[in-house]
Amino acid sequence: MMRLYIETVGCQMNVLDSELVVASLKRQGYELARAADQADTILFNTCSVRQHAEDKVYSALGKLKRTKQDFPDKIVGVLGCMAQKDQQRVFDRAPYVDLVVGPGQLHRVPELIEEARRGAGRQLAVSLGRREGAVEAVRRSHESFDPLRDPEMRPTPFQAYLRIQVGCDKFCAYCVVPMTRGPEQGRHPDAIVAEARTLADQGCLEIVLLGQTVNSYRYGTGPATVRLAHLLERLHAIDGIRRLKFVTGFPKDMTRELLEAVRDLPKVSPYLHVPLQSGSDPVLERMKRGYTVDDYRSMMERIRDTLPDAAVSSDFIVGFCGETEDDFERTKECVRAFRFKNSFIFKYSERSGTKAAERFPDDVPDGIKQRRNNELLEIQNAISEEDNVRLLGRTFDVLVEGPSKTARKKGEEGPDIQMTGRTHCDRIVVFDGETRQAGRILPITIYDASAHTLFGILDIPDPTPQVYSLLQGRSRGDEERCG
Ligand code: 5AD
Ligand code: SF4
Repeated sequence: MMRLYIETVGCQMNVLDSELVVASLKRQGYELARAADQADTILFNTCSVRQHAEDKVYSALGKLKRTKQDFPDKIVGVLGCMAQKDQQRVFDRAPYVDLVVGPGQLHRVPELIEEARRGAGRQLAVSLGRREGAVEAVRRSHESFDPLRDPEMRPTPFQAYLRIQVGCDKFCAYCVVPMTRGPEQGRHPDAIVAEARTLADQGCLEIVLLGQTVNSYRYGTGPATVRLAHLLERLHAIDGIRRLKFVTGFPKDMTRELLEAVRDLPKVSPYLHVPLQSGSDPVLERMKRGYTVDDYRSMMERIRDTLPDAAVSSDFIVGFCGETEDDFERTKECVRAFRFKNSFIFKYSERSGTKAAERFPDDVPDGIKQRRNNELLEIQNAISEEDNVRLLGRTFDVLVEGPSKTARKKGEEGPDIQMTGRTHCDRIVVFDGETRQAGRILPITIYDASAHTLFGILDIPDPTPQVYSLLQGRSRGDEERCG
């Protein structure tokens, strides 16, 4: 029996990619190892969005040098965006790596491991660069594979990611994704619906649709074009699915039609992740985001009109090329004005091959980036806490995911244990419960709140199985729209 260890960094796309790679290797007879030193095959699924993510992987690879000397038969592989971006350079920096496989070529991992094991030398499988071939050939080289999935790799058995789109065509000036994941391509709607049905049959209650700009999803042309709103309608009709989410959104494509679909389809979570990135027009312009702060404000108004209780979250980059104190003040104003549920804040990291790296110097010193990061986070946290405190006393339907982080850190085992879950609006709720409650949607009343967590108690302290099944059987649409 071969043993596989895989370490994943980066976005949800990578989590899903790892799930698919593991599924394909299990079919070849592999089983998962808990640690690298217990495995015959060690894979890193990597991210290139920021330098820091790459440094971590190269340092982890460095630690494997000795292992490879002592056990030359072990296979070491680098997968994902860094593999696509650095290609041959991964071998130059870490000569003991056996395979380098870009995100569009992951279906070849089992075959490439076999080759390496047979002694055929280093294996490199990457997709074509955006200018390295005819449009169709480039697209095909980035297509994701459509495999049997492996429930064991999912975050939980009742939640799954489902890719509806690969690649990105927005070409934001700072971003490496359009290079590493190639041109934007929507998957065939029938394939998406079929996969969702399989997931529902396996007991999935929540499906998170993934795309780099998921709300730009389209399939086909002309009047027959299928968009995200249509897709949501079809997915909504699948029995067994209780919640649908989609990430990540692009502001320009958050159309009224889509927002109305979210409003009218009760299984679709009133939760929207739509990164603003900066609150200053000149910075947005240099970032080539394709919208102004006013455009974003109109989008927020559209959201508040259609979905008054929706939770909106954002991403920000601080210290982008040429960002002044005045630009940064505007970003702060936006965070105060838009009252995001939460924001992910990043220090700008120059990526070679991007327009920003070509055109603008990375001229904001790291100390200033760090200060801006801290300041923005502080403002956001205060807002998150204020908005969470408003929810005290309310009862929300919580999809219970499992023991809380605190309980896991303490190594507690249950059955009585602190559990964690999420509201329909993606807010994290912890409560004293039992391990068997994982995978249920239960009413939890909130009694305390911090910036990132709601603390609640289960409405029915010791529900019998009959009560559980009654709760499960409530018709869709019963879920509270907010929270
Ligand atoms: N530097 C810092 N942050 C970046 N992001 C994307 N590219 C960079 C970069 N070069 C951030 C954006 C994006 C999130 C996934 O990562 O905020 O929304
Ligand atoms: Fe990168 Fe912009 Fe595409 Fe997001 S929309 S993946 S930030 S290029």
